[in-house]
Amino acid sequence: MCGIVGYVGPKDCSEVLVDALRKLEYRGYDSAGIAVFEDGKIKVAKEKGRLDDLQAKMNAEGVPAGNAGIGHTRWATHGIPSAVNSHPHKGGEKVTLVHNGIIENYKELKEYLISQGRVFVSETDTEVVAQLLDFNYEGDPIKAIAKTLSQVEGSFALGILFADRVGELFAVRRESPLIVGVSEGESFIASDVPAIIKYTNQYYLLEHDEIAHLDFSGVSFCDLEGNAIVKELKVADWNQEAAEKGGYEHFMLKEIHEQPTAVKTTITPRISDGLPCLEECSITVDSLRDINQIYIVACGTAMHAGMVGKYVIEKMAKVPVIVDIASEFRYRDPLIKEGDLVIIISQSGETADSLAAMRLAKSMGAKTLAIVNAKGSSIAREADMLIYTHAGPEIAVASTKAYMVQIAVMYLLGFKMALSKGQITEDECRRLTGVLASVPVYLEKTIADVDDVCNDIATQLLEAENLLYIGRGLDYALSMEGSLKLKEISYIHSEAYAAGELKHGTISLITDGMPVIAVATQNSLLDKTVSNIKEVKARGAMVIVVCDEEAQIGADVADYIIRVPKIEESLMPMLAAVPLQLLAYYTSYKRGNDVDKPRNLAKSVTVE
Ligand code: F6R
Repeated sequence: MCGIVGYVGPKDCSEVLVDALRKLEYRGYDSAGIAVFEDGKIKVAKEKGRLDDLQAKMNAEGVPAGNAGIGHTRWATHGIPSAVNSHPHKGGEKVTLVHNGIIENYKELKEYLISQGRVFVSETDTEVVAQLLDFNYEGDPIKAIAKTLSQVEGSFALGILFADRVGELFAVRRESPLIVGVSEGESFIASDVPAIIKYTNQYYLLEHDEIAHLDFSGVSFCDLEGNAIVKELKVADWNQEAAEKGGYEHFMLKEIHEQPTAVKTTITPRISDGLPCLEECSITVDSLRDINQIYIVACGTAMHAGMVGKYVIEKMAKVPVIVDIASEFRYRDPLIKEGDLVIIISQSGETADSLAAMRLAKSMGAKTLAIVNAKGSSIAREADMLIYTHAGPEIAVASTKAYMVQIAVMYLLGFKMALSKGQITEDECRRLTGVLASVPVYLEKTIADVDDVCNDIATQLLEAENLLYIGRGLDYALSMEGSLKLKEISYIHSEAYAAGELKHGTISLITDGMPVIAVATQNSLLDKTVSNIKEVKARGAMVIVVCDEEAQIGADVADYIIRVPKIEESLMPMLAAVPLQLLAYYTSYKRGNDVDKPRNLAKSVTVE
């Protein structure tokens, strides 16, 4: 995820900016840049790669020397990682800015600006804002910012320099976070506290559509009409490590809370005119039409995302999908035919078995599509087609936000494929895509609604030695992930079972008080699932049901009910995943485990 910093004060601005950007490295980035007022002019330095690459370039070409400026680390969404696409962007002679977030209507705005004679040098949505602001600027920064904000749609935080306002910095945000730090004689902007904690622990939280103005006399705030705003100064009592966790006790909890943003950042650039648009990844309607067999190959959580993909693609596009564990696939002589599509899902892009499986599939003539989070990783580089997920770096070993964005991509692909195959109409595809686009809002609500209840219910699981997750259809796919999450960090033995399969053996395991977590979000299967729940309840199980807010489930069926918002049935896994993640998190935490680094596990499994 992109990072923004800015500085006005007596220190060497370039040094402060690069140093502050280093503290945001944990967010992940593929290029970096700064812009500083030097002798009354804005001097920009930017480079693809790491901050060391930027520093080397500046050492060779001259480090901008001055006391006010902005800096940025970019995690590419619109346009490849390159020096040209990296920030800061100039909008012409008057405006230079850095941006975090996504401008949803950038295509329309770009067309308009081109019709007005503007020439673009990058592929980014950011340059569109820079050009628009430059176009609107007639000497009054607040008026120009307000006018620009009335024209752009999306989520963003901006750090802005106007060429004729030497030594001044403006900032504004909508949805994407931004803070304004203050200390004796100097001020800062940053997308996160860790960037500036070395310099100050005092900061203001910029709210939606508020403008901050920083200069050598201090900091002031106003709304879009220019009315002054008095804000409360906050004091962070974090050290550097705590600051990187954003105030959360563990990275896992932080990453669970980052899911709404991660989904939004992943899907927004892939929706155009209300329909899934994967052309940038070389996936066109024509290329999907001829596919008759799909394999989804991955490991662990990523494989569970593939299970969701199987249900979605088979149900909607009517194309058969085989989901394989990568370590099995590569040694079982899979019957791949030329033209089959093999989808590899991987957060790290370096998992040895997944990489080997992809190479095998390629050697057998299959087309390979990688869905990967880590930019430039081996799987990303070697696949024929590539969709990057934009979860940002995932630090906790137990995957949460990467899983969530993997599923989001599965839906985009499923909808697109169903449309290509003529299985759904364009209207239906647009409707489904619209529901998917609304998921981030429902995710926010789900996290807020279920956090406390999961914390409480986790107390009931602490002494358990064995646990079952059950569900049908998509709920079964989700149960597999819930079960893995719980066992890997709580160390309680757990299995996921297709609810209808219990009575063929496994039900004999049920003893008095054994926890059974039933996922029951698929309304079309609810009656069947409830029957299975009753079977385990009658044998003494302690039942926890995860269902939507309208599901008719009586107290006689469940000991605890966790309700999530109700949306389109096929998309319910995205919301129901949250309580499963939180149950695992709180159980592990309460058992005193090292939540972020569970025993015996590594984040990236680069050996067989
Ligand atoms: C579990 C988890 C693992 C990974 C698996 C694949 O929480 O994170 O099961 O999903 O090791 O890793 P990637 O996605 O990097 O290929």
